[in-house]
Parts: sequence; C-alpha cells; structure tokens
Amino acid sequence: MSAHSPDTPRRITIHELQRRKREGRRWAMLTCYDALTARIFEEAGVDVLLVGDSAANTVLGYPDTLAVTTEELLVLNRAVARGATRALVVADLPFGSYQLSPRQALQTSIEFVKRAGVQAVKFEGGRRVAEHVRTVVDAGIPVMAHIGFTPQSVHALGGYRVQGRGQDAEELRKDALALQDAGAFAIVLEMIPAQLAAEITAELRIPTIGIGAGPACDAQVLVWTDMAGLGPTPMPRFVKEYADLRGILTAAARAFVDDVAAGRYPDLTHSYQ
Ligand code: KIV
Repeated sequence: MSAHSPDTPRRITIHELQRRKREGRRWAMLTCYDALTARIFEEAGVDVLLVGDSAANTVLGYPDTLAVTTEELLVLNRAVARGATRALVVADLPFGSYQLSPRQALQTSIEFVKRAGVQAVKFEGGRRVAEHVRTVVDAGIPVMAHIGFTPQSVHALGGYRVQGRGQDAEELRKDALALQDAGAFAIVLEMIPAQLAAEITAELRIPTIGIGAGPACDAQVLVWTDMAGLGPTPMPRFVKEYADLRGILTAAARAFVDDVAAGRYPDLTHSYQ
C-alpha cells in the first residue's frame, strides 16, 4: 500500500526550495505556532513554516528568546506539524539545546523530528556551529542556518542592532560559506545591510532567507504576529504590517463585551428553541 494517495498534497522539499533558487523563483516563510494558523498560512501559499523560538515572546510572554525550553517548543511544533500538510515545517532549536556540542545538536534535532514530526531544524550561529550542522545533516536531518543578528546572542551582540557593517562583513561572508559547506540547505540572514545580503545571495548555491536584509534574498521571512499587525509597537524598520489584527480583535472583543453587558447577546437567533 502506498503512503501517498492522489489526494494527498505533496510536501514542499528542501530540493524544491533549492531548485527555485536556480530558477530565480522567490518564496515566503512565516513563523507559526499552532495548527489553526498553520492551515491558514498553507492555504495562503506560504511554503515554509518556521516554529520560531520567537514563540518565547509572541506566545509565551518571555522578554526574549533565551528562557524558552525544548519541552515548551515541542508542544508548539507538534501543533504546527499536525496542522500543516503541504508546507515544510522547520523547528527552531532553543537556546542551550544545541550549543554544547555537535552531539547535543543532533540529540535535540532528533527529539524534534521524532516527537514533533517536523521536517527540518534551524539553529543560530556561524562557523562556530558548522560542525554541529554537519553532524545533524549527516544523520539525515535538514538544517536551516541563521546568521547576522541572532536573537539568542542578544546580550553578546549588545542589543538589537544591524550586523555585518564594515570589517564584520567579511566574517559574515565566511560564516555563510562555511555553513553551506557543512550542508545547510538554506540560511536566514537577519538585520544585515542589503548590499551585503545581495553579495552573499549571489555567492551561495543555497537559498538565503532575508529578515531585515533587503530585497535581493531568495526568500523572505517575517514573524507572523508582526506581519499581521498583532505585535507590540513600534516595529523594527524592516517589518511591513499587512493587516491590523490587533485593531480588529480589540474591536471584536469590545463589541462582545458591550453586547453581553447590554443584554444584546445572545438574542433569539443565537439560542436553541
Ligand atoms: O524565531 C524566529 O522567529 C526566527 C525568525 C525571525 C527567523 O528565528
């Protein structure tokens, strides 16, 4: 018996994403933290869903991404993997779950693949995690890399600031090449100058995914709550808000509160006879 019926949508693969780079076709990734939005984003044509450790801020209420645990993220990854049938689901490994050694990175990656059912993992860092990437990829798990501004290093980087200016540009280029050589299938470039991102994109065989890295990247990613206008204000310069969900939700909740207080809800049409 085949595992694939003709009605099962085909899952986006890392090979498809790499083919798109060769063909010059761009694609979009969004963060995602639950099954409901996974289905909505898939239907909207989002090909890659990143269960970002940004869930620490957006969902769990932590001040930064450092405190969130593997167990907390496993729950969210499982939900997204249950909701998504076509999109590639990528698990962002939390701080402290991979830095110790390539072996630790592999162990945590296996946890996310086995217990959450994701298709790939992502972790932050340049040459210092190249060996970690190689070990995970050699075990058969695709790895998305992440350089530039890496939120898990916010204290070492001295805050939320653009990376790769001046002399640092060369370091970032070397990081990108080392991660590609180690087998990463794609690489997130966060908050780096647009010109540097364009040069790295031209130099690499694997797709670059920009966030605050200008228009030349092969793909773009946003935190979904930022993209939909749910996030706190003010937003960083690179965020485009495509909706005002905060406004819409506030108005809906307020109308519900007012209706209940005034006895307008439920009326007969919302009651059983
Ligand atoms: O955790 C996250 O949301 C991310 C993206 C910003 C790339 O790493």
